[in-house]
Amino acid sequence: MMEKTLVIIKPDAVSKNLIGEIISRFERNGLRVAALKKIKMTKDEAKGFYIVHKERPFYESLTDFMSEGPIVVMVLEGENAIQKVRKIMGATNPAQAEEGTIRRDFAENIERNAVHGSDSAQSAAYEIPYFFSTLEIL
Ligand code: CMP
Repeated sequence: MMEKTLVIIKPDAVSKNLIGEIISRFERNGLRVAALKKIKMTKDEAKGFYIVHKERPFYESLTDFMSEGPIVVMVLEGENAIQKVRKIMGATNPAQAEEGTIRRDFAENIERNAVHGSDSAQSAAYEIPYFFSTLEIL
């Protein structure tokens, strides 16, 4: 099934100059960049993006981190893109991420974990329009 998913290169990875390396890993695995931009979220924008986590103990810290510096947001398209992206990223906690995954190679810890990818079609349907209008997705 052709799918679209929302991916974020987080502030930790952007500050380490890893944008190209991370996008290459997705492209090498057959995913196509349908939309892309570099932005900096405000604290409130980060809180809105992660609203599903608002009751979690890490919500404040996570949204501070996600608004501390520039991020790259993109829409990736491909066969089973949602699951494919999650496999290429690796587990949320880099200590549990498989060898060769982005988080194993570049994440600092469970919070500063280099990348985000939509975890379901329902999440993608919220997350893609959070950053992109239909005219920007090609
Ligand atoms: P992400 O895939 O963007 O989804 C929610 C984010 O919350 C996650 O990656 C991490 O950055 C962060 N996160 C998830 N679990 C924890 C945790 N136990 N402690 C701190 N941060 C977490």
